[in-house]
Amino acid sequence: MKTFDAIKGRRSVRSYQDRKIPKEQLEKIMEAAIWSPSASNAQAWEFIVVENDADIKKIKIFSPGIFGNPAVIVIVCRDLKRAYELCDELGRDTLSLMDISMASQNIMLASHDLGIGSCAVRSFGISAIKRLFDLPEHINPELLITLGYPEKIPKPPRRRGVSEVVRWHNR
Ligand SMILES: Cc1cc2nc3c(=O)[nH]c(=O)nc-3n(C[C@H](O)[C@H](O)[C@H](O)COP(=O)(O)O)c2cc1C
Repeated sequence: MKTFDAIKGRRSVRSYQDRKIPKEQLEKIMEAAIWSPSASNAQAWEFIVVENDADIKKIKIFSPGIFGNPAVIVIVCRDLKRAYELCDELGRDTLSLMDISMASQNIMLASHDLGIGSCAVRSFGISAIKRLFDLPEHINPELLITLGYPEKIPKPPRRRGVSEVVRWHNR
């Protein structure tokens, strides 16, 4: 798939087929995640790939932002200890958030390229996830990404136009 087509064609998918995602596809998607840029190449991220139906059900209980029944949920976490050790307060408080955002977009674009739908979800109980997966204090879940073969692909929500949000300087 052409990069620009992938960028424009990806949609937040909230209804999924009852179909598993092959392991090789998931490995490819997670490889795309680790090839994201990160400030000072700190890579202060961890990803928990949840494929088990029972765990997905548990996550859904405290995640009002999840719609449909995804085949997989990726829990995108910041490693606050690593971010601080490598990039001080700036890394811990700001850069690591930017880094996981980029990794998340890579996950969603790579999924789209493989015909797999995704949706970023922030509306979930962070402390409940931490408890459920027994995460250490410094590993902070920031975003869930639901994955699955799309049942329905939504129409593209309206974008603010380029002329509305871009100021061209020195042209
Ligand atoms: C940081 C972030 C958090 C989001 N949280 C949710 C969420 O909790 N539930 C949900 O259904 N969609 C969520 N979304 C998806 C947005 O609603 C969606 O990206 C937006 O409406 C644009 O639609 P599109 O992704 O199809 O282009 C989130 C997206 C981002 C980037």
